[in-house]
Amino acid sequence: MEKEFIKPMDITDIESRIKQRAAQIESELRGYLDVTDDDYGILYDAMRYSLLAGGKRLRPFLALEFARLAATSRGLDPDAAEASALAYASAIEMIHTYSLIHDDLPCMDDDDLRRGKPTNHKVFGEANALLAGDALLTLAFEVAASNKLASPETNCRAVVLLSTAAGANGMVGGQVLDLIGESSRLGFDTLERLQSKKTGELIRASSLLGCYAGGADEGLIAAAERYSMGLGRAFQVLDDILDVVGDTALLGKPIGSDAASDKTTFLTFMTPNEAYAYADRLTRDAVSALEDYDGADVLCELAIYLSKRNK
Ligand code: IPE
Ligand code: IPE
Ligand code: MG
Ligand code: MG
Ligand code: MG
Repeated sequence: MEKEFIKPMDITDIESRIKQRAAQIESELRGYLDVTDDDYGILYDAMRYSLLAGGKRLRPFLALEFARLAATSRGLDPDAAEASALAYASAIEMIHTYSLIHDDLPCMDDDDLRRGKPTNHKVFGEANALLAGDALLTLAFEVAASNKLASPETNCRAVVLLSTAAGANGMVGGQVLDLIGESSRLGFDTLERLQSKKTGELIRASSLLGCYAGGADEGLIAAAERYSMGLGRAFQVLDDILDVVGDTALLGKPIGSDAASDKTTFLTFMTPNEAYAYADRLTRDAVSALEDYDGADVLCELAIYLSKRNK
């Protein structure tokens, strides 16, 4: 089937671009889970339940937009770059969704609502939720490794990046620090390290996957690293703020979850207003990382939009 690409000029407003990207990635993800199995259909039901439940689709957005930017910056075809980033964009969303399913389990944050619906374990039971997460994680590697629109070398780089970002020295390590931060007060530096692993690593990987697919040079990779560091930190500052002042109906997840488990968060160290100002500074740094690149306006607008989000 011929793919349709979303060109920067088609979109005037970042919110509609995010919505278009979300619909694009939703249909891509649906294709990977178009499976029926009479013996253990419940597993696929549980995988689809969380993966196709909406969500902002921020990580795929980054992968696809960085692929376009990388190609544009080298005078290459952005549509072809975007096409070759689609499998990576899907893979990172599978890993992110698995992390959310496990994050909500009673042994972790013990939450009942996610993406506006009862959490996976509330519907399918803890064992199936655990296994649906495992299956999404492993499917992600299969999808990235077998991307037919990138070279085997690029797919290999992508799989290494996904593994390190998701693993013990990445998101999983951050989740362990997050749990340690429930029973003891962490210092600010440790909190920043925690958040950069828990949330920052998958965001960084998303941007870099796009860079790889689009054949970015060293300069853009360094800029993408800096942009992602600012954006990832600001993103988690907002997540912590919204856990206190957010609206469950908009967020689609419970507020007060961090306080209920006495977690160390950014709001342990600052008021919500101070935290908004901090997110602003981080966002400005993210935006300035891309100031030399024509065609980076979508990514800059994204960072600003996310720093003011309410969901
Ligand atoms: C929530 O991520 C977990 C964090 C890392 C803060 P998102 O806020 O991106 O969740 P979805 O994908 O939109 O549901
Ligand atoms: C979760 O962070 C980050 C993951 C690795 C899933 P949070 O626990 O703060 O995410 P929410 O607030 O439940 O979405
Ligand atoms: Mg958590
Ligand atoms: Mg949580
Ligand atoms: Mg949170």
